[in-house]
Amino acid sequence: MFESLVRHFSQGARADELEPAILTELREEMAAGEHFSRDMSHLWQMLETVLAKSGRATCTGADDSFRLLNLACGHCEEAAVLSAFFGRMGKPVRQFAMDLRDREIDKAKRRYAATEALFQIAGVPKIRAKENTIEFVADDATRLVGYGQIPGAFDVVFMRHQNLWNGLSTWRRIYSFALERIATDGGTLIITSYFDKEHLQALELLRALGGTILSSERNPRSRELDYPGKSVDRHVAAIATVPPA
Ligand SMILES: C[S@@+](CC[C@H](N)C(=O)[O-])C[C@H]1O[C@@H](n2cnc3c(N)ncnc32)[C@H](O)[C@@H]1O
Repeated sequence: MFESLVRHFSQGARADELEPAILTELREEMAAGEHFSRDMSHLWQMLETVLAKSGRATCTGADDSFRLLNLACGHCEEAAVLSAFFGRMGKPVRQFAMDLRDREIDKAKRRYAATEALFQIAGVPKIRAKENTIEFVADDATRLVGYGQIPGAFDVVFMRHQNLWNGLSTWRRIYSFALERIATDGGTLIITSYFDKEHLQALELLRALGGTILSSERNPRSRELDYPGKSVDRHVAAIATVPPA
C-alpha cells in the first residue's frame, strides 16, 4: 500500500527512487494516526482478496482513465488509498467522492489535503499526478446525474459502511443508483459493512435490485468498535449487474 501511495502522490516515482530519509518520515507520519494506517492496510488486503475472488482483480477500466465513484463517503479517510489502489495498473484515477452532508465533505477535503501535504513536506518531488483527480461533492447521491462533469458510468462504485438501519428506503435508492452507474463492461460495485446482519441484508437488497454477488468476505483483521458486533470493514463484497462469465 505504501509504495502505491508514493506512486500516486509523486507522479509515478517509485518508492525505491526516493531518499530513504523521506520514506522513513512518511512511514512514521502515516503510522501516527491512531488506527488509520492499520485500518487502511486491512482494507487494501480485503480489496485484493475480494477482487481476486470476484474475477475482477485485473480490471483496469474501459476508458483512458479509471473512473471511481465513492458514494456516501463521509469524511472519506480512504480517498487517497482508493486512488492509489485502483491506480496500480497504471491508469490515472478520476475519483468522485460524495456525501449528503457538507460538514463531512469539508472534512474529507481537509483530510485529503493533509495527506497530500504530508508527502509534500516530507519531500516527495511532484505532488499528485496531473491526471489523477479527486472531486468531493456535497449532495444527495441519487442526484449525481445532474453534474455535467461526472461520468455516466464508473469502473468501480465504492460504498463504505452503509447504514441500512437508518432509512432503508433511502439506501434502496442509493443502491439502485449505484447499480445503474457501474459500467456494463466489467464495472463493479464494492460495499463494506460494519455488522454481520446488516451485510446480509445489504446483499439481499442488492440481489433484489438485480445485482449479482461476485464475492463476499469476512475481514479477519477487522478492528472491533464500541458496539457489540460492530467492526471496521467487517465484510467486503463485490457486486456486478451481469452474471460472471
Ligand atoms: C454510516 S456513514 C458511512 C460514512 C463513510 N463511508 C464511512 O465509512 O465512514 C453513512 C453516510 O451516508 C451518508 N448519506 C446518507 N444518505 C445519503 C445520500 N442520499 N446521498 C449521499 N450520502 C448519503 C451520510 O451522510 C453518512 O456520511
